[in-house]
This record gives sequence, C-alpha cells and structure tokens, in this order.
Amino acid sequence: MRIFKFKEIDSTNKFLKEMKEKEDYDTAIAETQVMGRGRRGNKWSSEKGGAYFSFLLKEDKNIAFEEYMKLPLVIGYSLLKTFESIEPELNFMFKWTNDIYIFDKKISGILVEKSEDYFIIGIGINLNNEIKGEAENTAVSMGKITLKEYKIEEIIISVIENFKKDLAFYFNGNWDKILFELNEKNYLLGKDLCIEYGSGKKETGKGLNIHRSGQLEIEISGEKKLFNAGEIHITKNN
Ligand code: BTN
Repeated sequence: MRIFKFKEIDSTNKFLKEMKEKEDYDTAIAETQVMGRGRRGNKWSSEKGGAYFSFLLKEDKNIAFEEYMKLPLVIGYSLLKTFESIEPELNFMFKWTNDIYIFDKKISGILVEKSEDYFIIGIGINLNNEIKGEAENTAVSMGKITLKEYKIEEIIISVIENFKKDLAFYFNGNWDKILFELNEKNYLLGKDLCIEYGSGKKETGKGLNIHRSGQLEIEISGEKKLFNAGEIHITKNN
C-alpha cells in the first residue's frame, strides 16, 4: 500500500485510474480537487478542509463477481462504523446505495469505479470544510455540527483500516450481520420517495428495507419491488 498525497489534483479517482502498475490498497489523498467527481456525472465540491481520497482494491478472481456488487454497501458500513467511533452521540444514517446522512443532510459520498482488475473506491467526507450557498440545503460537515476541527488524515486511515476488516468479515459469510446494521440505520425506511433508474424511468413509492440481495425494496401501489440502482429523491420525510 502506497500513499500519494496532493495539495491539489483534478480527482483522486482519476489519478488512481490512470496510474500504471497499480498495487492493492494504493491510496491517493488530496487537500482539494478541482474536478472532484460524484456519481451519475455529478460534481463533488472539494474545498479545503474535507477528506478527499481514493484507494484501490484488487479483484480476487476466486471470489464470485456478484459478491463485489455489494461493495458500496460494505464501504457504507465501514464509514458508518468509523463515524460512530469518532462521534458516538451523533445519529449517522445510511442512504442506500452510497451515502451517509446526518440531520437529513449528506455528510459523505462514495464513488466506486472499475479499472482492469481493480476497484477504485473514492470517498468524500465533509469534515472541516465549510458548505456554502445552495449546497447548505442538502449537505453538512461534521465540524459544523460539533464545532470541532478533525484530523483529516487520521480519519482517512481509519476508514481504510476499518474497510479492510469489514471486507474480510463480509467475505467470511457475515453479510447478514452487516445488512442488519445497515437496515438499523436505513435513512430511506418509511419515506415517500421517487427513484430514477435505467434511462429516464421513474417510480414513486415508500422506502422499505435493504434486501439480502443488496437491492432496495420499495412499496409501489401496495406491491413490493426491488431496485438494483437508481437516484433517490425524497418527496416526503415521514
Ligand atoms: C457521490 O456522492 O456522488 C460520490 C462522491 C465521491 C467523491 C469522492 S472525493 C474523492 C474521490 N475523487 C473523486 O473525484 N470523487 C471521489
């Protein structure tokens, strides 16, 4: 595991993607990103004070590829556990498939990409950064809530170390335990929501549990339906 540190970079995910001779758990950390990328082509605002990092995970060919489909959920679990250990009094929630929320605002997001035999796991955490303008309606930083100043690198390292343990736990047959805890913190449970999926399809319904398959269960016109992926908009915060 090598650590590459940058004061400024376009995107830590892009850096690792383009890097030749990759090694498992190589990590890129940046103080700021000028082209921070979010999911679905969104921009990830990367002002100084936040944690912006990516690391590599080599695909193990002895493990069925489907097992890796739940990777974003396992990473979400590691983030929850890390945040809870830093601030045990705060009620962090997991928003399927990739986000951590607190007080109805996003504190952290995950972008998983694939390049050759490697998964590139990119994480942004709002820590000491100030959230400005419109974004204040949807995002919050840990420092804003607690008025503390966090040690960014220490937190990054503990997320990665926790993830290593959690991944081994997951591959050793403990998915049900991880899933149970994610469902305890399921931000979408009982909320009226609209899911956009595929190319331009939309459905509205009520959020239920995250299913064993890793899919989200939504009740639509009295019927339960499972979704693999999609962008969720909450229409009513029941
Ligand atoms: C999302 O919520 O849409 C995912 C956001 C992921 C942002 C992180 S910041 C570090 C890494 N580099 C990027 O360009 N994106 C990820």
